[in-house]
Amino acid sequence: MKGRFVTFEGCEGSGKSTQLRLLCEYLDKNGTPYILTREPGGSSIAEQIRKIILDGKNTEMSDECEALLYAAAREQHLTEVIIPALEKGLLVLCDRYVDSSLAYQGAARGLGAEYIESINMHAMRAYPPDITVFLDIPPAAAFNRKHGADKDDRMEQQGLDFHNRVYGGYLALAEKYPRICRIDCGGTKYETNAKITALLKSRGFI
Ligand code: TYD
Repeated sequence: MKGRFVTFEGCEGSGKSTQLRLLCEYLDKNGTPYILTREPGGSSIAEQIRKIILDGKNTEMSDECEALLYAAAREQHLTEVIIPALEKGLLVLCDRYVDSSLAYQGAARGLGAEYIESINMHAMRAYPPDITVFLDIPPAAAFNRKHGADKDDRMEQQGLDFHNRVYGGYLALAEKYPRICRIDCGGTKYETNAKITALLKSRGFI
């Protein structure tokens, strides 16, 4: 049986890492087999590409180069990690995937959905997520919670306007794709965790 593919999306500081950790603890306790992976990265080559993309010193990187590097990392990650795991029937949890490119490069950088879809054709057509958990918190609230950005990360160095455009991009994607489920994460981390497990249980993913 083909495995299930669950992706997690959200703006900077939305608490994705914490939520993924809490979900994995739950799955471990229940003995549910899964793999947890992330983008950009998740395989040796993709992690090397990640370093180039996020390096705060790479200020001259063009928007198109950035989008293509994310797509290249994704292709390698898909081939090397995601597809084999799905073929083994595993539950694949992925921290960010193609919706990040649509929100960050497509909407916030202004490259447009058509361009992003074209360079991510394989991921979008052959391997779309079965469900996407969107951790919904506006960037200003998320920044306050996180107490500021990581100064060395090229993406986090972008201002609030940029992150508001990312958020707008996600809201538009959630309208367009029914697989994207918005989870209001304005409450405590345990409240958000309960909402995520309830959603995934009700849909038969866990
Ligand atoms: P990371 O430190 O993993 O951020 P987070 O913890 O918020 O997920 O860095 C990933 C950064 O890359 C993040 O700013 C989002 C950005 N990104 C894109 O712009 N496009 C993409 O396709 C992906 C996968 C990530």
